[in-house]
Parts: sequence; structure tokens; C-alpha cells
Amino acid sequence: MPQDAAAVTGGRRRALLLENIHPDARTLLSEAGWEVETATGALGEAELAQRLPGVQLLGIRSTTHVSESVLETARDLEAIGAFCIGTNQIDLFAAAARGVAVFNAPYSNTRSVVELALAEIIALTRRLTVKDRLMHDGVWDKSAVGAHEVRGRRLGIVGYGNIGSQLSVVAEALGMSVFFYDSADKLAMGNARRCGSLGEVLDVADVVTLHVDGRAGNSGLFGEEEFARMRPGSIFLNLSRGFVVDHDALRRHIVSGHLAGAAVDVFPTEPKGRGEAFESQLRGLPNVILTPHVGGSTEEAQEDIGRFVAAKLRDYALHGSTTLSVNMPSLASEERTGTVRLAHLHHNVPGVLAGINRVLADAAVNIEGQQLSTRGDLGYVVTDIAGHCDGELVRRLEALPETVRVRRIS
Ligand SMILES: NC(=O)c1ccc[n+]([C@@H]2O[C@H](COP(=O)([O-])OP(=O)(O)OC[C@H]3O[C@@H](n4cnc5c(N)ncnc54)[C@H](O)[C@@H]3O)[C@@H](O)[C@H]2O)c1
Repeated sequence: MPQDAAAVTGGRRRALLLENIHPDARTLLSEAGWEVETATGALGEAELAQRLPGVQLLGIRSTTHVSESVLETARDLEAIGAFCIGTNQIDLFAAAARGVAVFNAPYSNTRSVVELALAEIIALTRRLTVKDRLMHDGVWDKSAVGAHEVRGRRLGIVGYGNIGSQLSVVAEALGMSVFFYDSADKLAMGNARRCGSLGEVLDVADVVTLHVDGRAGNSGLFGEEEFARMRPGSIFLNLSRGFVVDHDALRRHIVSGHLAGAAVDVFPTEPKGRGEAFESQLRGLPNVILTPHVGGSTEEAQEDIGRFVAAKLRDYALHGSTTLSVNMPSLASEERTGTVRLAHLHHNVPGVLAGINRVLADAAVNIEGQQLSTRGDLGYVVTDIAGHCDGELVRRLEALPETVRVRRIS
């Protein structure tokens, strides 16, 4: 039976979910015993600071900013769920320093990006956008010239992480031959062939698609030289990050006819909100598909994000599990009955574990189970003890000089 949050703590457990998070998140947390308040929009700093006292779990998407000064006022806050991929909107360091765990959903929209990339590869290879435009202009251009099957064509994937490797599997199922380049040593899926450099991919591929991450070193990764090296008549896709590609160079190679088409979902500067004007040198080019950073935006991905992040918040609050947290040491602690669980976050210096166990031994407490994990400056110990745990024991653990935060969680 799942533990009930209120029964565990003996008090009210409150969660605040902002920015129209998928209703599955509310359902999951309510069923686990939280009183859940929701809001459709984001909150500014002052209002957020006002709403957080008494709230243990906060859910946001990309617009609400959780700064150090907000965290300073949020004494009851235990965890923040970023119901999206990015976590730049949260001061992760300040959160960790206060023992506030942050979770996100790094994999929930992987499949959505893969499907959009595949749809675009097929559409561009068949020149569907050109045919479609002509039909709407009243022109019946029945011709096979420049239209190809994707079966047997060579797909070059640059960045073979979550998205790149899943695209590799699905593209092979369509009969494409996959070549990939990743700066890290990655296991090839299926019959995909690893290339030793970006240039090797460009030399062989009929379609080149970028799925690298957003590290600063990837700025300008793909420019004049790389487009020039692509095979004549090949197709280019970028669904990774806007700053990775030189759009002036891409325009030149489309206009010259060296490239047969392109699909771009991400831009160096993007409008801030829905409905705002979009400017780009790529507008109006033939066989170029432009989409407003929607690679990961599907209802399925939103639903998966809602469920995934809410479950992470619940498991952290109820069991101390920090698996996939972006700012805590990673520790997978599962539900256990018949013991009291203490979660101790501390500065990672020698002797802390001995100090914790000395406090427990002095209180004549038997340790039934104990797990430790560290990450940089932080250490995290989850200890299951037999019998009674009074407030005095928690206070003694809090008094250890290295302690960041102690939570009695069951
Ligand atoms: N368009 C969208 O809506 C959307 C949605 C989700 C993710 N993304 C973006 O897609 C990209 C990939 O996401 P992911 O989850 O697969 O990331 P990931 O971290 O799992 O994979 C990125 C891979 O790129 C490799 N890499 C980094 N720099 C490289 C370089 N210069 N050359 C070769 N390989 C390099 C890394 O080693 C890693 O294997 C990210 O930039 C992410 O922000 C876009």
C-alpha cells in the first residue's frame, strides 16, 4: 500500500503546481495524500515568495523563475519539479544549499522529437512542401523529379544521445542506413555505423540531422565549411539548439541548390511567446520546413512529463529517493515498512557518516539499513532505524556542523 503523505508527517502536506501542468500530476500527488493547489499561469518572484510558506512541493514549467531570494523565504519547501526538460529557470545551487531537490523530465519528449524528425525527413525527401505549395496555388505539378523514397538512403546523425539513438532505431526500421558521429564513445544501435568525425558523416549522408546537446562549445558547430562538405542534393535538419547552426550559411546553400531542403525547429533567437512575430533569414525558402520549437511538444509528451515528475516528487518526499535529481546526490531508496527513515543532506567532508552514526549510537538506536551517495560538495545518507525517533534525535543530527538538512520521512 502506498504510504500517505499526511500520515507520514503527521501534518498538512501541500503542493503548488503552476503553469498549467498536466492534470495527471495533480491526480498522482492527491492520491499520495497531498493537498494540491494549481494555477494556469506563472508567478512572479514576489507572489511566488508569498505563496510558498507551508508548501513542500512546487511544480513549475519554464516561465516561473525560482531565484535564491524566493528560496530564502520558502522554509517548508522540500522539492521542485520542473515539468519540462530545462532547469535554467531554477537556481539549482541555491536550492541544493537549502536541501531542496530539483527534478525534471529529460526523456519524456524524446519520442516526439524523433517522430517530427522522421516526418520531416520523409516530407523533404519527397519534396512535399513544394508540391503542397503549388497545389494551393492551383498548379498540378505531377512529376517524380527530385522525389525519393527514404528506403536505402543514408541518414547521418550528429549527436547520438537519447534522441539521436532512438531516431537511429526507427529510421533503420524504415530501411535507412544509419551513420552517426558522437564526441563521446556511444554504443551503435542495430546496424548503425559509427563515424570517427563529423566530416565522415557529411561525406556519406543523404540526410544530416543534428541532435547534439547545448554545451557552449557547440556554438557555431555547423557553418559554411560543414554545409559545403555535405553531398550535393542532400537534406539538413536541426532540432537540437538554435545557436549550433549558422543560418546565413544554410540560406546560401539552399538558395544555390547545393542542398535539396532543410527543416529547422530551433533558432538562435526565438520569440518569447506564442503569437509573437518570427524573423529569420530562412523564411520563404523552397523545401524548407520551419517549426516554432515544437519538436518535443505533443500531448503525449506533456502527459508523460506530468506523471514522471510528479512521481519523482512523491518518491523523494515519501522515501527519500533522489534518482535523476539534477542537483542532489543520486540515491534510489525504496519504500520500507516497520522502520523510521532519516534523510540527511550534508557537506561532503570526511567523517560525517561516523558523526551521524555516533549520534544514533548515543541514542541507543539500531540501524536497520543505510545508503550513502555523494555529488560534488554534497553527501546524502538515508538511514532506516528501528523503533522510536523523537524530535531530540533529529535536533542532534541537525546540530552536526556539516548538516545541510535533516528530514524524518517515515
Ligand atoms: N526541438 C525540441 O523541441 C527539443 C526537445 C527535446 C530536446 N531537444 C534538444 O535536442 C538535443 C538532444 O537531446 P538529447 O536528449 O538526445 O540529449 P543527450 O544529452 O542525450 O545527447 C546529446 C549527445 O550529443 C553528443 N554531443 C555533444 N556535442 C557534440 C558534438 N559537438 N559532436 C558530436 N556529438 C556531440 C553528446 O555526447 C550526447 O551523446 C539537445 O540539444 C536538446 O536540447 C530539442
